Amino acid sequence: MEILDLRHFGSEDLRPLLDEEVEFWAQHLAWDYHGSAEMIQRYVDTKVLPGYAAVERGRILGYSFFVYEGSKGVIGDLFVADGGRITNPHEVENQLLTHVIETLQQSPGIHRIESQLLMHETGIVSPTFMAQGFSRHGRLFMILSLDKNAPSRRRLHEDVEIRRWTEADYQPAAALITTAYRGHVDAEINDQYRTLAGSLRFLNNIVRFPGCGTFDPESSFVAVQKNTRSLAGIILCSHVRQDVGHVTQVCVLPEFRSQGIGEALLAATSGSLREQKCSLLSLTVTAANDRAVELYRQLGFEEKRAFDAFVWEG
Ligand SMILES: CC(C)(COP(=O)(O)OP(=O)(O)OC[C@H]1O[C@@H](n2cnc3c(N)ncnc32)[C@H](O)[C@@H]1OP(=O)(O)O)[C@@H](O)C(=O)NCCC(=O)NCCS
Repeated sequence: MEILDLRHFGSEDLRPLLDEEVEFWAQHLAWDYHGSAEMIQRYVDTKVLPGYAAVERGRILGYSFFVYEGSKGVIGDLFVADGGRITNPHEVENQLLTHVIETLQQSPGIHRIESQLLMHETGIVSPTFMAQGFSRHGRLFMILSLDKNAPSRRRLHEDVEIRRWTEADYQPAAALITTAYRGHVDAEINDQYRTLAGSLRFLNNIVRFPGCGTFDPESSFVAVQKNTRSLAGIILCSHVRQDVGHVTQVCVLPEFRSQGIGEALLAATSGSLREQKCSLLSLTVTAANDRAVELYRQLGFEEKRAFDAFVWEG
C-alpha cells in the first residue's frame, strides 16, 4: 500500500470509496452525505484539495483531506473502506492521519489543528493524534425520536419570547455566540467561538453555505428579551436528511440560563420539525458539558455514538 497526494486523483477514482462513505453515514448517523460527497468530488477535480489517498494496486482504500483556515488547519475527513476487504483498516487510518498531521504541523504559519471525526468511535483514532501532541475532548452524537410526545414545556419568564430566526439576527447572534462560549470547553475545541469575526464565520458556514446540511430557517429560533428586543438565546437547525433535523447551534446568554430558555428553544425546533413530518432530531455535544447533556437527556435525546474532538497548538 502507498500513501499518495490526493491531488493525483480525479473524482472518478474516488467515487467507489465515497459511495461507501455515503452508505456509512446513512447507516450509522441517519445522515445523507450525498451533498458533501459531491462537494468533495468537485474539489478533488479542481486539484486544490490537500490530502492523501491510501492506494493498493491502483485502488483507493481510504482518504483524508484537510483545509487551511488562516493559521489553522482543519482535518475534514478520514475514511477507509470496509474492514472486510482490508486486513488492517486502522493501520491504513493511522498512516493517512500521520501524513495529514505531519503535513499540517510542517506547514509554515499553521499554529493550530482541529479535528472532529464524527464517524470514528471514541478511542479508535486517538492514539495517532495523542502521539502527535493533540489533546482530546470526548463528544456525543445524540438523537431524539420525533415520534415521541413532545416534552412538557416549562413556562418561560414573561420577559422572554421565542420567535423564528431572521436574517437580521445574523450579527447579534454572532455576538451572542461569542459571549455564551466565553471560557467554555467548546471554545477550546473550536476557536471560532472566541471572537466575533470567528463566530460570524461559523454562522456563515452554517446559514449561507452547506457546511453542515441544509439550513432550515423555519426550524431555527431566537429567544428575545421583550423590553430591550435583544437576543437571550438562539437555536439553529439544518437538515442532514430530508426527514432529519440537526441542531448546529444552541446557546443562551449566561444571565438567562436555568430559566427554561434552552428547553423552549429545543421544543420550538422539534415542534417545527414535527410539522414538517420529520422523524429525528440529532445534535453533538461535548461530554464534559454536563449541563447541556443533562438537558438533552431530560428532553428524551439518546446517545447514539461517542466520538472525539482533537486539538493541537504549536
Ligand atoms: C446548554 C444551554 C443552552 C442550556 O440553556 P438553559 O436556558 O440554561 O436551559 P434550561 O434553563 O432550559 O435548562 C433546562 C435543564 O437543563 C439542566 N440544567 C440546567 N442547569 C443545570 C446545572 N447547573 N446542572 C445540571 N443541569 C442543569 C436542568 O435539567 C435544567 O432544568 P432545571 O433548570 O429545572 O434544573 C446553556 O447552558 C448554554 O448556552 N450553555 C453554553 C453553550 C452550550 O453549551 N451550548 C450547548 C452546546 S451542545
